[in-house]
Amino acid sequence: MTTKTIFSCAKCDAQFPKWSGRCLSCGAWGTLAEESAPAKNSKTVEPVKFDSRKLRDFQDVTTEQFERLKTNIPELDQIFGGGIVKGSLTLLGGEPGIGKSTLVLQILKEIKGGADTPLLYVSGEESAGQIKIRIDRLGYSPTNLKFLGETSAEEIVAAIRTMKPQLAIIDSIQTIHSDEIAAESGNVAQIRACTAKLMEVAKNTNVPLIIIGHVTKDGEVAGPKTLEHLVDVVLYLEGDRFHDFRILRGSKNRFGSTNEIGVFQMTEAGLKEVVDPGKAFLAETTRNYPGSALTCFIDGTRPFLAEVQALVTPTIFGFPQRKTSGYDLNRLQMISAVLFKRANINLNAQDIHLNIVGGLKLNDPSIDMAVAAAIVSALKNKPIPKDTIIFGELGLGGETRPIANIEKRISEAEKMGFSKIICPRIKIQKKSTAEIVVVESLAEMLSKQ
Ligand code: TYD
Ligand code: MG
Repeated sequence: MTTKTIFSCAKCDAQFPKWSGRCLSCGAWGTLAEESAPAKNSKTVEPVKFDSRKLRDFQDVTTEQFERLKTNIPELDQIFGGGIVKGSLTLLGGEPGIGKSTLVLQILKEIKGGADTPLLYVSGEESAGQIKIRIDRLGYSPTNLKFLGETSAEEIVAAIRTMKPQLAIIDSIQTIHSDEIAAESGNVAQIRACTAKLMEVAKNTNVPLIIIGHVTKDGEVAGPKTLEHLVDVVLYLEGDRFHDFRILRGSKNRFGSTNEIGVFQMTEAGLKEVVDPGKAFLAETTRNYPGSALTCFIDGTRPFLAEVQALVTPTIFGFPQRKTSGYDLNRLQMISAVLFKRANINLNAQDIHLNIVGGLKLNDPSIDMAVAAAIVSALKNKPIPKDTIIFGELGLGGETRPIANIEKRISEAEKMGFSKIICPRIKIQKKSTAEIVVVESLAEMLSKQ
């Protein structure tokens, strides 16, 4: 079989016959990398005879119970959906220095190795001595934790196959290379080939693997689509904008839900679970002043909290001003018109300044209701209680409109300790710890705050 060269994009995985500086599919710059693909065999192939015994009827299929390895860190077990499934491949992504290596060492510490249940830490980045410093900081006295300083995928696979550890960590996928691929480590083709090899050994030996992946400046694991397709579970460890928390969030899980998040704080002795993140979050981020409304928006697939601030002042002369920072001016005009027409809030002689805290740019209509609430709160000089979060879109009729990913937003709000959620009509599937106030219109929202 001959091979030919193709170029694939590290960001969206599109493939091209020629190199170019910019991916024609997703528009990213400098992401095309060379890889070789086997060319089609030109000889005609005999049609395959299909053996119908291969077909299975779903009536006879029973649901599988996955065997799970408990990490003994409750937040983490919950994110995994009850523990790490044996033979599964997990990708842990995050910026350098966020605490990925620390987190996996803490998992190893809690799982504990035994005489017949060894643990394996493969690092292509750091020496055993460097990792030992971290181990000591964590107060971890490892039993049967083996270190392998190796970057060859074949060697790592062989080690896992021979050793059959309880859990193996690969730190990080970008440093590993396979001899079968003629490209440098970190190249998309390399990452893909190495991940596929690791996946195969995980499935064959039933050893769960966690591979660490660095994210690039724009917040994605190098070769993200490629990797996310291949692995079973994708977790991201990220910092939060407001303080020193680390948020661990699932963005894919073949064995559980992706609505769970875990909140940690980096301390002298590693990451500590934050038991009541809501309390700390609310205490620090918002003071109770008029014109501030908290909301939740979705970026990619992830929910984030944001604060909308409005300042409403009487117009001194002439035409009332509308100014925004991080928000669409036309949308603000629309919301003030709807407030006037549908809720009888007269803003004709008022200047409005609207700001999204933290330099965010939000053009997501799902924050309409929060914008309206912030304006009214500023106008009436009446703060919105700080345990209240508001999200939903507004229509020109003053009606509230349902938005996507509402369950994700609700879970995030609950986790962050909000006790009242104001939102449009939804089908609520699970019981909520917060009071969910469904409002049909803008006027109703303003009366229920
Ligand atoms: P690290 O796990 O090395 O991050 P990553 O693997 O994602 O690159 O940890 C990064 C930071 O955490 C490092 O600057 C030191 C700090 N740290 C603590 O504050 N406390 C600790 O107990 C440990 C182990 C690390
Ligand atoms: Mg590290």
